[in-house]
Amino acid sequence: DDTHGEIVLRVNDVTHRLLVDNRTTLLDALREGIGHTGSKKGCDRGQCGACTVLCDGRRVVSCLTLAVAAEGAEITTIEGLAGDGELRPIQREFVRLDGFQCGYCTSGQLCSAVGMLAEHAAGWPSAVTADVSPDAPAPELDAAEVRERMSGNLCRCGAYPSIVRAVLSAAREEVAG
Ligand code: FES
Ligand code: FES
Repeated sequence: DDTHGEIVLRVNDVTHRLLVDNRTTLLDALREGIGHTGSKKGCDRGQCGACTVLCDGRRVVSCLTLAVAAEGAEITTIEGLAGDGELRPIQREFVRLDGFQCGYCTSGQLCSAVGMLAEHAAGWPSAVTADVSPDAPAPELDAAEVRERMSGNLCRCGAYPSIVRAVLSAAREEVAG
């Protein structure tokens, strides 16, 4: 019928053709259409961040993104975050510094952290730093900045102190690529 159609999604460097309803979210397309269940559905309404993925390197909550709107983007999910199979620095530091307990929020935290570090490296202000004049150097990434910039990613286990430590520990290596 005319509410369904085929879309093409690029996910972790692989092209997928999917038949979706035009209201299908990117999260449901990833989990149910492609079988990538690493992105979690915590709230399905943009409040928890568990579904965070990267679209062209920018973090989005996939539960509030329509699958059709993600056509043409290079989507990266937790399944593809490591690239060549080696853990990337942010993943390694989450393991080393206990950045998770149950793990439900973790794929969202990791994708969000990668996007956030790129935003910070590009000089994007946060609410903490919004009053800094535009020609000021990018604020140093400290715990307060990480907490503010990751505030869309909730952790019901309360692993925040370890998450912040892991993000700060991996930050330099992640941005250096
Ligand atoms: Fe998307 Fe909670 S499931 S923000
Ligand atoms: Fe359990 Fe974050 S580790 S919700």
